[in-house]
Amino acid sequence: RLLGTAGAAGAAGLALGAAGGAAAHAAAAEAAPTALSTVGSGVVAFHGEHQAGITTAMQSSGHLVAFDLSPGAGRKAAAALMRRWSALAAELMAGRPASREDTGVALDAGPSSLTVTFGFGRTFFGRTGLTARRPAGLDPLPPFSADRLDPRRSDGDLWVQIGADDGLVAFHALRAIQKAAGDTARVRWQMNGFNRAPGATARPMTTRNLMGQIDGTNNPKPSEPDFDRRVFVPAGTEHGWLTGGSYAVVRRIRMLLDDWERLSTAKQEGVIGRRKSDGAPLTGGGESTPLALDELGPDGKPVVAANAHARISAPEQNGGAAMLRRPFSYHDGIGPDGTPDAGLLFICWQADPLRGFVPVQRKLDRGDALSPFLRHEASGLFVVPGGARQGEYVGQRLLE
Ligand code: HEM
Repeated sequence: RLLGTAGAAGAAGLALGAAGGAAAHAAAAEAAPTALSTVGSGVVAFHGEHQAGITTAMQSSGHLVAFDLSPGAGRKAAAALMRRWSALAAELMAGRPASREDTGVALDAGPSSLTVTFGFGRTFFGRTGLTARRPAGLDPLPPFSADRLDPRRSDGDLWVQIGADDGLVAFHALRAIQKAAGDTARVRWQMNGFNRAPGATARPMTTRNLMGQIDGTNNPKPSEPDFDRRVFVPAGTEHGWLTGGSYAVVRRIRMLLDDWERLSTAKQEGVIGRRKSDGAPLTGGGESTPLALDELGPDGKPVVAANAHARISAPEQNGGAAMLRRPFSYHDGIGPDGTPDAGLLFICWQADPLRGFVPVQRKLDRGDALSPFLRHEASGLFVVPGGARQGEYVGQRLLE
């Protein structure tokens, strides 16, 4: 299903038809297809030590969907579902159709870096009789003062994260996953998100969120020696089945964009502690320069304000806690009051939520400068088992 040269040349021909000339046509056929086929041909491996969709580069389209097991569906049915879903995800991520009854939505496109990632919520363990194997990391998140959580759009027995660099490929996977749930599980909630498309900027850059900020700069990097320790559950912990897994905290965070956009750029920059144009710290340098948290301005006050988001969330301010933030933006239309229902599907990954998300959100909740412009509307905490080896399905070490 990869975009072949014939198809690409045809498309280029069409685009250039008005300009006319066989020479122009031939030149365009060589030049034009490159970007399209590069995006489409991106393949992410399904099998591996960790599930895909955690360290994978952020994709331009995302769907999050949570399911509840149907009444009467226990461990056996859950195991069969995970086997079905894993086989399906492996096919789709390789760019192959879902089945003979495939909907055809992704025909003509390559896999487009599709990833399908599976997680289990706290309630999954009770429903499947596996409470004894439920890790402490799934203990409910504490309440926060900024929470305005909608329980119908929160939690869930099972969670699936779908990401792709093509909207049709992502939707195709979502439909296939939903249909493959059959009678075993029913959709509890579903959310859609997006990020910048690859190739939209002159060079690969950290993405921006809907407040216009460069967001993701100070994420831990896979090249750092303590990256795995922070993001993935190591071997030798209390639950062997969890080795190589991670915890995803999912928060639907609405941005109060009308209020935010009324601030001057200087005020907006003060809220974060970084420049809007290039993400550099207000203390100078470039995007990757560390924040000089101790630096004082001419007024004797810290240049990066005491309540700046980047100061309060910085790992050195939180006993070394760190998480990998890998969000999607969302926009679900404009409400009756004229304000956009838009914000961040905040997803962060960590080896232990009590050392990652919880202490940081506790501090932010006590009064960071960004909080007045945000509303946490839904929340989920999911354990994401390690990746499946060849011949194995995701979660097999728990469910078999
Ligand atoms: C840093 C925006 C929510 C944790 C940042 C930065 C921005 C930002 C612009 C600076 C650039 C960067 O390092 O990525 C936002 C927005 C949010 C949000 C718009 C909500 C819509 C959260 C939440 C948490 C969090 C809920 C965790 C509980 C962090 C961390 C950093 C960070 C750990 C890196 C700090 C550092 O090491 O310098 N955020 N953030 N953020 N944010 Fe947020």
